[in-house]
Amino acid sequence: MFIDTHCHLEDEKFSEDREEILERARAAGVERIINFGSTFQSSVAVTELAKNFSELYAGVGIHPEEIDDFDEKICARLAELAAEKKVIAVGEIGLDYHWEKDSERRLLQQKIFIAQLDLARQLNLPVCVHDRDAHGDTLKILQAEGKNLRGVLHCYSGSLETAREVWKLGWFIGVDGPLTFKNSAKLPEVVKAAPRDMILIETDAPYLAPTPHRGKRNEPAFVVEVAKKLAEIRSETLEDVAAYTTANAKNLYEIF
Ligand code: NI
Repeated sequence: MFIDTHCHLEDEKFSEDREEILERARAAGVERIINFGSTFQSSVAVTELAKNFSELYAGVGIHPEEIDDFDEKICARLAELAAEKKVIAVGEIGLDYHWEKDSERRLLQQKIFIAQLDLARQLNLPVCVHDRDAHGDTLKILQAEGKNLRGVLHCYSGSLETAREVWKLGWFIGVDGPLTFKNSAKLPEVVKAAPRDMILIETDAPYLAPTPHRGKRNEPAFVVEVAKKLAEIRSETLEDVAAYTTANAKNLYEIF
């Protein structure tokens, strides 16, 4: 059994064939899928999906590229959504300096990230963090503001040195399709060194399809390709990887 711990099945790219995609996931052994909101609207959509399909769970939050969607009212409405039983996380939230070069806007991202970490603490939910080209500030914020919080740096793209700091906090790293790419940079070194109880697997579908589907629409069934690559790099069996990544996901998100 596998769990795709980060996905966006509410995306319109899936509106034509969502049920077939869920069937293919089931056939591939992917028995749980966690969808994350990026805006308030998509947070509502992933919550609805989770209500309608037994294998789906949801995380709610405002993505750093969507911060204009965030204010106190929206924060309160996210808390309302989180009262739904199958909303099991706050996310995806965090920092994205790849697209945002303006220093004031980056500060605003940080402020809204911290506000949503507070929300997760109030709700007693784990956190899914998006960090693109902002490893230093993300780590600083987690160290300073992450007390009594658990979570994952999803789609991990930082250095081994940063990963070690993340693990010290008791946080997970999430590994996606880029691990299977030829230019996967530092990632193989990071996953090789990762303690087995600190790794999650995910697709981030519809984005970042793993080899041999690279460039196409991604879907939860393809999380098995990430698991296979993990097994190869870490000299483990696929069954082993399936077992411990599933246990990790259940442990962090308290899904059964
Ligand atoms: Ni995502």
